[in-house]
Amino acid sequence: MNKVLSVPRIKFDNETLETDTSSSQSEVERKISSLFELYCSKVECDPDVPVLYKPIHLSYIRSHLFKLPQNYECLDSSRPWLCYWLCQSLALLNYELTSEEKSNVVSFLSKCQHETGGFSGGPNQMPHLAPTYAAVSALCLIGTEEAFNTINRKKLHSFLMSLRMPNGSFCMTKYGESDIRAVYCAVTVAQLTNVYTADMFESTNRWVIRCQTYEGGFGGVPGVEAHGGYTFCGFSSLILLKSIHMCDTKALLRWVVNKQMSFEGGFQGRTNKLVDGCYSFWQAGIFPVLTNLLESEGNCTLWPLYDYKALQEYVLICCQNRYSGGLIDKPEKPPDVYHTCYVLSGLALAQHAVKNETSTVGSHKNILNSNNPIYNMELTCLKKALDYFKSTTPIN
Ligand code: FPP
Ligand code: ZN
Repeated sequence: MNKVLSVPRIKFDNETLETDTSSSQSEVERKISSLFELYCSKVECDPDVPVLYKPIHLSYIRSHLFKLPQNYECLDSSRPWLCYWLCQSLALLNYELTSEEKSNVVSFLSKCQHETGGFSGGPNQMPHLAPTYAAVSALCLIGTEEAFNTINRKKLHSFLMSLRMPNGSFCMTKYGESDIRAVYCAVTVAQLTNVYTADMFESTNRWVIRCQTYEGGFGGVPGVEAHGGYTFCGFSSLILLKSIHMCDTKALLRWVVNKQMSFEGGFQGRTNKLVDGCYSFWQAGIFPVLTNLLESEGNCTLWPLYDYKALQEYVLICCQNRYSGGLIDKPEKPPDVYHTCYVLSGLALAQHAVKNETSTVGSHKNILNSNNPIYNMELTCLKKALDYFKSTTPIN
């Protein structure tokens, strides 16, 4: 088996002490091992494998944009997220919606815009930073004048200011929790729409850096366990706040490289936990920027610092439902639109990990469009949105 995979795989060693954690890990490895074996038996007769099953994923994504199965009811207060996950997945697959379809999505998102300037999880719900980030990102991905003009920038600026805390952190919603996701959502939205002002983020960098833990990754708030999702938020926020010099990049690098699983090739979100396809983005997504940063500090010679081929093998061999379409967390899990977005987003980055050289696993037909790792937005859509908002009047 190891002869066909890009690198030899090393199984977890429980050192003769079986625990709940070690047996779950071994169970995941057992399932992945049989998928790897199946792949190895196919690769000899089909040079195109592993295949990214683009047509079936496209039909899965399109069908979910217009009609959701009943089990999505629990995401009734996250509807702009559904728009963002689906639009980002479509953009990476280089698929364009019709003008009418774009207009329908814009019209729905405009109903989520609250009079205070933020966006809510659905029409007539409370405004919140998470759906604000998702709605603004989805509108940028749609990229029409109608989409850009939907955003009331002046009110959006006031909304962001209203959630700022005296110590520079942000609350997710009025009277809500304050954590590193809120900073990421606020700074991303402010930069995208050109409503960023210095007073909005005064001392925010000092609050964010308090979330970097002794392990090297970031927790949700100061003093808690490092986790991939929060690490992405902390790292990307510091980049957008032009404060990455405050980060202990070597400690971060040591932590994140150790989150790539030695058998599976995918990433775990935190120490001693299981692999999950969405960390192909949350964790591996920081490598492009971290690598450039370490290089510019004269520190890095082992570019690109993670095994981008083993990651692609995990995604292509273990994270696709090739019958219904959609991408997944790990083998035997059902597909969902969140994992479809983040697995594809991480895959796109891994495929473009090496400059001037093809780093794609499988045939060139697997290649996705380029992705921006800070905003997690398909690159041409991001450039168009940034150009558009750059030409709008600054907010004072
Ligand atoms: C699972 O925790 C959590 C996730 C899979 C998502 C984490 C992502 C974020 C916190 C980023 C949010 C970003 C924005 C922009 C709002 P778990 O404890 O169930 O999973 P684990 O076992 O893998 O740790
Ligand atoms: Zn996941």
